[in-house]
Amino acid sequence: SLPLVIDTDTAQDDCVALLIGLLDPLADLRAITMVAGNVGFDRQVRNAFLTLNAAGRLGEVPVHLGCRRPLTRPWVSAENVHGDGVGGLDMDFTGCAPEAEHGVDALVRLAAERPGELSIVAIGPLTNIAAASLKDPDFAGNVKTLYVMGGSNNGRGNITAAAEFNFYVDPEAAKAVFAAGFEIVVIPWDPLTLRQAVFGPSALAEIAALDTPLARFFTRVCAATLEFDRSVGIDGTTHPDSLTAALLLHPELVVRSAPYHVDVETAGELTRGYAAMSWGVHGLAANATVIEEVDAAGFFSYLRALLARSVTPV
Ligand code: BDR
Ligand code: CA
Repeated sequence: SLPLVIDTDTAQDDCVALLIGLLDPLADLRAITMVAGNVGFDRQVRNAFLTLNAAGRLGEVPVHLGCRRPLTRPWVSAENVHGDGVGGLDMDFTGCAPEAEHGVDALVRLAAERPGELSIVAIGPLTNIAAASLKDPDFAGNVKTLYVMGGSNNGRGNITAAAEFNFYVDPEAAKAVFAAGFEIVVIPWDPLTLRQAVFGPSALAEIAALDTPLARFFTRVCAATLEFDRSVGIDGTTHPDSLTAALLLHPELVVRSAPYHVDVETAGELTRGYAAMSWGVHGLAANATVIEEVDAAGFFSYLRALLARSVTPV
């Protein structure tokens, strides 16, 4: 099984990505690290514990609190899209204590403990990852592969015309990460999750019909985003974070990928957080593999099978 850490701003699809890390037999999830992003930081921490509980794994995987704000800028929320991120789910959080060790220190330590073995699924702003590579010059080299959900491949942004949320929130961190020497795989918002792997009404009905606790959890945490997506003309839910986790564990779901030079705009007036994905013609050396096409039907079947499983929430 594959040792990994999920670095997350836990709301909606982040929860689904965590379910994958917690339940896929190929995954050996060593830690969850929290980064400022989608919703209030403490809310995100609660959402992570709610997800551990939904997976029947409460107390089994450490949760580390990372950076509470971007490297140099104030926090930007996506609460207008995600609400509280879990559709109002609640539980008794007594005993749900995060670790004392900071998320950035945990990332550095876990990568150094097994150089070349640990993969990271980064599905929030890249603040923790950038901070870890600033802290330890060996960090990027110690990490096996860094799967990054962020940017759009010369396509649409979702928070501005130019930018995808994760890169927009902390563009300095994203820029630093692409310059740090990681082995990076990028899962861009557009086209992968906006045009390819959208779960439309019939797919969502199939999941609801499973009627397992996990399927009910999925439907609940995705409800606010579904409403938002419909209001902007997307016919279904988008799954950037769970797709990222699934592609790490199941590379056979990748249909096409290519080497790119990726850089991130930090100074633009209209383009803060824009991902410049240069596909080779501009003479820049590649620093990432960008996924261009996925097996969307295969991804859906995979997730449906995962949600059909029976687990016992604690
Ligand atoms: C990304 O931003 C967040 O809203 C989602 O959790 C995802 O990681 C998509 O742009
Ligand atoms: Ca996310």
